[in-house]
Formats: sequence, C-alpha cells, structure tokens
Amino acid sequence: MTAKELRNMYVSFFRERGHREIPSASLLPENDPTVLFTTAGMHPLVPYLLGEKHPLGRRLTDVQKCIRTSDIDEVGDDVHLTFFEMMGNWSLGDYFKEESVSMSYEFLTKHLHIPPERLAVTVFAGDETAPADQETAQAWKRLGLKEEQIFRYGREENWWGPVGRTGPCGPDTEIFYDFGKPRCGENCGPACTCGKYVEIWNNVFLLFNKEEDGSLTELAQKNVDTGMGLERVLTIFNGKTNVYETELFLPLMERLEELGAGKELPLRDRRIIAEHVRAVTFILGDPRRIVPSNTEQGYILRRLIRRVIRLLQKAGMDSGCLCGLSAMVIDQYRDIYPELGENRGFILEELQKEHALFSRTLEEGLRKANRYLDSLKADSLEAERPGTDSLKAEQLGADSLEANSPESRKSAMLSGELAFKLYDTYGFPIEFTAELARERGFSVDMNGFRRKFEEHQEKSRKASAGKFAGGLAEHSEQTARLHTATHLLGGALRKVLGEEVSQRGSNINAERLRFDFSFGRKVTKEELAQVEAIVNEAIDRKIDVILEEMPPQEAWRSGAIGIFSEKYGDMVKVYTIPGYSREICGGPHAANTGELGGFRILKEEASSAGVRRIKAVLESRES
Ligand code: ALA
Repeated sequence: MTAKELRNMYVSFFRERGHREIPSASLLPENDPTVLFTTAGMHPLVPYLLGEKHPLGRRLTDVQKCIRTSDIDEVGDDVHLTFFEMMGNWSLGDYFKEESVSMSYEFLTKHLHIPPERLAVTVFAGDETAPADQETAQAWKRLGLKEEQIFRYGREENWWGPVGRTGPCGPDTEIFYDFGKPRCGENCGPACTCGKYVEIWNNVFLLFNKEEDGSLTELAQKNVDTGMGLERVLTIFNGKTNVYETELFLPLMERLEELGAGKELPLRDRRIIAEHVRAVTFILGDPRRIVPSNTEQGYILRRLIRRVIRLLQKAGMDSGCLCGLSAMVIDQYRDIYPELGENRGFILEELQKEHALFSRTLEEGLRKANRYLDSLKADSLEAERPGTDSLKAEQLGADSLEANSPESRKSAMLSGELAFKLYDTYGFPIEFTAELARERGFSVDMNGFRRKFEEHQEKSRKASAGKFAGGLAEHSEQTARLHTATHLLGGALRKVLGEEVSQRGSNINAERLRFDFSFGRKVTKEELAQVEAIVNEAIDRKIDVILEEMPPQEAWRSGAIGIFSEKYGDMVKVYTIPGYSREICGGPHAANTGELGGFRILKEEASSAGVRRIKAVLESRES
C-alpha cells in the first residue's frame, strides 16, 4: 500500500461514517497559542473542542502535518519522528467511547487486515482526579479483545494533554501493534520500549480543560480526538520493520548512500539526516513562512538544519547537498502538500542561507568545542590520577576558566559559560553542544547555560528598548534596521492618527518589531495601509539618518520626542529622519533608510486599555 492509498483509505472510511474532511492546517498553530508547532490534529480544533460550533458539523476527519520536537532524541530509532502525518477523526460532542473504539477496531481489522491478536490496548487506570475508564475497557472486550490484550496504566501513559500549559485533555486509550516477539520480561507491555509493541493510534476522550491555575474544568461537551501515525501504519502494513524502509524515506536513504554517507556514517545518523531534512522542508514550506532564527519556531528550525549540516560534514560530505535532499522531499510530497511546490524557491534559498551562515563557523566552533572537551577529559583523568599536572586553563584561551573549576572536574560537565560561548560566537544550538559532549561522555551544565543565556537576553532586551543610552554593545544590523523602522512607524502613526499618539513600549527581535502606543480605538485597515505607505515612502527616498548629541533641554526644545521616563544624562543622542521623525534615543540605527527593505505591518491589536500594539517586519526587496 502506498502512503497516498493509506491517506485515502482512512479519510474515506470516516467520511462513510458521517465525518467531513477538513484540510491539514498550518504547522504553525493559529488556533492554539499554547504550542509552538502543531503537534497533533486537535490543535487547529481547540475552539470547537471547547464548544464553538464547527461549520462542517460534529464529525470531522483529516490528515494533519505535525511537528513533535519532544521526540527529537528518539529520532533515528525505528519509529520516532519530529515531522509526521497524523490521520485523525473527531467527535465534537457527538459519538463517544464505544463508537469511537469500535470504528477504530473495524478500520484496523477489516481494512488494514491486522489480525485482532496482534493488537494490544491501554486504558486509564484512574487516580484521585478522574476515575478508571471501565467503559472503554468493556468496549474493547465486547469487540473481542482478551483480558491479556488490555493493559491499565496511570496518568503518565493514559492521560493525554494538554501539550502546553492549558487546554483540552482527558483519559485516552492507546492502540498498539504487537510485532509478536516474546515479551522481554515479567512487566513487558505496551509501555515497554523493548520493541515488541509500537503505538499506532490514540483515542482521547477530551472531557476537561486544564486552566492556568492547574485545575481541571469539565467541558460542556464530550469530545473524541484520535490520532494515528501514518508512517508507522505504512511500515506495519507493508511488513517493514522501520519507517525508513517505506517509500517515504527510501529515496532519501538511497541518495545518502550514493553520496557516500554509508561508508562514514552510522545508520542512525543517516536516518537522522533523512528525517530532519524532511522536517525542515515542511517547516520552511509552510505557508506561514518562518525562517531560521534564535527564537521559538525559528530556533527549532535552525537546530534541525544545523544538526543535519554537522552530520553531513562529519561524514566528510559536502553539506551543501542538504538543498538537493530537500528538493527530493519537495518533489515527493508536492502533490499532497502543494505549498511545498509553491514555496520551493523560498525553502531552498533559506536552506542555502542557513548553510552559508553556519558552515562558516562550524569548523572553528568544533575545534573550540573539542578543545574544551579535551580539557575536561584531561581533568577527569587527572582527577583519577592525583599528582599529575592538568591542562591549564590558559592553554584554552582566556575564556575557559570554568572548565577547570573544581565543580566541573567533579561532574565532568562542560560549563554553562563555555556552552554559551559556543552558542553565541559559533552558532551552536545548545542541544547540539550537549550532543557533542555526550558523544565524548560528558554532560553540559544546562542551568549554567540558561543563566548565561538569560543574562544575555536581558542585556539585549534593555539594549533594544534603548535603555543603555549610547552604550549598546551587541546589536545586529537587522536590529538596527528594525529600530529605525520603529522610529518611522512612530512618526507615521502620528501623521495618520494625530500627534497625541505616543510610544508605550517597544520590543525588537531578529524577526520583527513590536510597537505599543496610546490610542483609544482599533486602527482601521485604511489607516494601517497609509501608515505602511508612509514608512515605505521614507525607505524609498533613501534618507540619511542624522545623529546629533546635545543637552536634553535643547533636544526637547528642538521638537525631539523623548520616550523613556528615565532621567537623561547631560548629553543625549537625537536621531533625526528629516520629514519623518526626531527622537531622543540610544540607537543604534541604520545609516540610511534605504537599507531597511520593505516594511510590512503584520498585525494591529489591543495591548491593554487605551494601548494598541503593532507588529511589523522588514522584508528583503530583491525578490
Ligand atoms: N491528540 C492525540 C495525540 O496526539 C490524539 O495522541
């Protein structure tokens, strides 16, 4: 059976049973702000699970593309994936447990022809917050499953959701395929990782909503939310032992062999490359275009791409082949996911950019990382053999004192400071450093890293708020451009909405600017279009940004606006974009507005009473 046949078979089965088909939503959730990625088919449906009426009714089905980074460390085994397709069906307050499991049973045994004795199921055993799920256990028995095929587990196995801090959740019944191998021991069951069982379907009874304070509120309607892993089912149906033997991965695996990966790279690494290439292609191909960055989804994307680049280089391969591999994924899936074809140029260009950015520093970063790790190794050896001289910190450069501190020696741990340096200077995602360390038998001081990271974030935050007047250390050019765009935006808002508009807050990251300002109502589409046009006009006119220094009184007198409530020093900087803006500000700014690129407002919304918020981006203008 092909993947296409399986998708069709699943959706047709549920359509025949009164379900309406909905399209796969974006990988970047619009309806569920509690998660970074769509990790299951239910995220796009959250409002409807909570009671809103769905336009297509109470029975839905789809095949949803998903990203699960929680499984990233398992990738490379037979069945775990970061990107996968989830086939799902939902009852929004319509049918419940009995009908749900009997449809699943029918699909598995009559359509996929899985012998009933090859199934094992788990049900919720109950705890202090919710009772044991007897109804589902009974329903399975009525369908013919034997008591020894039904396993009862607690919350850690049989309670699903929410994925984020809040959201719909409830007890579930998971369906496993039993490969028929002997049990590995007394306690072997579906929760065991020996490989006898693989989970293929999960039927969740979404009965509760978890609130901010951790409490569970019973939902007004009883929902069913199911999810079945397409890649796993395809593997089993076709008698394969792992997902990489299916048509979905075979071409990539073969191409890697042809490129010579087989000689140098262990199978697991080849699998990781194939899996991550597919995942990053789908993330970049998503209509809600995101790019590699150091925050949120962009960071995950970056981390996956960089891991692939490193593995390819480790095998001595030209890591630029990443783009060719991604093109294979695009061609393979564009039929089913046309967005991949439509965004082909974007996907490949972004991969190329990230490759150019990272491969430059990778080699040097690796050398540095290995020196740090060598020193740890020397230290731990020395700790075993007291009396010998250890490698001295100075040999590593001035930056590595902590590596030789008594604490790190004890625990053979790479310090947070060094991990942060690898992150900051060489662009090593922290997980990547942890992986390098693990390969050499060390760990990384994650808490120490987090502390360093947060210190750094705080510095950048203050810097981009202009609070370190004149003393900005680390500002990227993009931040400076966004900063200049923020001034233009403020000026344009005052022109369009009135001089009373004043800044209430500003936040800039590598991707976008966010600007809060006082204004008492929603800004209309037309007004936003005017504001956007004014900013773009200033950009098109390629105006020099003028910097002057003067005492604050003089600045006020000359009509400069000061934004922050802080006391200014004796001298302040005033940035002027003639005709558009004059502000007291720490900078830095672009030298000329022509450097900014196209300005686009993404969103206008309420921030708090009397305060509106605009998010906007600068886009490169060479198409
Ligand atoms: N939402 C359920 C899961 O992801 C079906 O397992």
